[in-house]
Amino acid sequence: MVKILVVNGPNLNLLGEREPGVYGNSTLGEINAGLVEAAAQMDVELEFYQSNHEGGLVEALHRAGEEFDGAILNAAGYTHTSVALRDAVKAIGVPVVEVHLSNPAAREDFRHVSLLAGVVAGTIAGFGPGSYLLAVDWFAFQAKADDEDGDGDDFEDDEYEDDDDEPDDEEEDGTEDR
Ligand code: DQA
Repeated sequence: MVKILVVNGPNLNLLGEREPGVYGNSTLGEINAGLVEAAAQMDVELEFYQSNHEGGLVEALHRAGEEFDGAILNAAGYTHTSVALRDAVKAIGVPVVEVHLSNPAAREDFRHVSLLAGVVAGTIAGFGPGSYLLAVDWFAFQAKADDEDGDGDDFEDDEYEDDDDEPDDEEEDGTEDR
């Protein structure tokens, strides 16, 4: 089971009432509840942290590095300003996916710069709560790919191994594989 910490920054505790035209009508609690359900289907376990304080977010990332397989980070306004969060992402040894509900590239100029973009595994933006879901999906996909490379007890070996000793194009009866 992959364990991911979902970290939300300032003002995201006000989702549902905050600029619904930009961020939608769902509360953070509702988004998180939907994510837990979807993640369980993908064998991903989620924990959530939200803070309006930069230091709390830095510490949450440190914790992600120690106790989790990765983090999903919506740093909200700190995306555009925080060297400390960028440094934290860089300091920890697990992948972080940057997410945004809105598409900052389509908004005011000051949102076009993300100090995190250069140090995260990738960025998903503009899909509302779906941005978080796509990030969870990537972690699930990645875990599966790692497993197939790793212990050998995977779909590739089990289902596709040709267990005779003949070269693949020359079966015992002299016929060729079709
Ligand atoms: C946000 C985009 C940021 O620019 C903004 O400051 C936020 C939310 C988003 O999820 O769309 O607070 O991160």
